[in-house]
Amino acid sequence: MKKVLIATVKPFAAAAVNEIKKVLDNAGYEMVLLEKYEDNSQLLEAVSDVDAMIIRSDKVTKEVLDAANNLKIVVRAGAGYDNIDLDAATEKGVVAMNTPGQNSNAVAELALGMMVYMARGKFNGKAGSELKGKSLGIHAFGHVGRLVAGIAKGFGMNVLAFDPFLSSGVIEEAGVKAVDSAEELYTASQYISLHIPANERTKKSINFELLNKMPEGATLVNTARKEVVDEDGLMKMFAERTDFRYVSDIAPDNAEEIAAAYPDRHFFTPKKMGAQTAEANINAGIASADQIVNFFENGDTTYKVN
Ligand code: 3PG
Repeated sequence: MKKVLIATVKPFAAAAVNEIKKVLDNAGYEMVLLEKYEDNSQLLEAVSDVDAMIIRSDKVTKEVLDAANNLKIVVRAGAGYDNIDLDAATEKGVVAMNTPGQNSNAVAELALGMMVYMARGKFNGKAGSELKGKSLGIHAFGHVGRLVAGIAKGFGMNVLAFDPFLSSGVIEEAGVKAVDSAEELYTASQYISLHIPANERTKKSINFELLNKMPEGATLVNTARKEVVDEDGLMKMFAERTDFRYVSDIAPDNAEEIAAAYPDRHFFTPKKMGAQTAEANINAGIASADQIVNFFENGDTTYKVN
């Protein structure tokens, strides 16, 4: 009987775990649940005899892979897989997958929710501003970026997008103005919503030079990864541009410094909340379980990322 570990420091909604169990039961697989673990040693122990593993932002390091004697596949229930050591997985012959698109709507709704929150002065009772008529630049037009564009158009925002991997035609087909460079996007956008992955090319790429191109009322919205923002540049932007605001679902390392110096110009969720809805958990959880069953039963590697 195949054993599938669900290892989640930040647990799925109970309904999602039930749905995952149904998929695994139907396949005749055993589900092992390790939620809210506090020490990596618990993960090392739990992974030792499982055939497959479902994770969220949980770190799958070389150490974890070395401790997993039977592991064939790890599925990141979500989009970003920067928490998996892909080289180590490949070396060990472990297939790594993600579940693209499954939690995107939840993330997109949070991005717009955080924009409204900042535009209304964090609901402080004073006159704020509206999103209608403001320009929004979407940095990377993947699953989340597209959904953000759709919702923002409903707010009456002027939406632009830049994606280095997509032709302008593909972006324009979605009814969004395409621009040719990140510089052009930031120059034209009062709001920027980040949807780039964290990798060697993108880390610290959102720097002062780029941010400072934004017009008056510059607000950076980050539901992607903290690593893509250059924190020195961020501090310089806060200091030099008194109009600049930063809202993020992933607090930067210097969050306390920002909170102390610029209390009204930032908001950071206490824990990454973007994909934290029952719907997103159910979608990504079921997709993960389905992908594992399909991999073992049919050799399907459609969402392999290594
Ligand atoms: C993702 O990459 O899918 C999101 O960042 C969600 O991460 P989470 O599963 O840890 O909430």
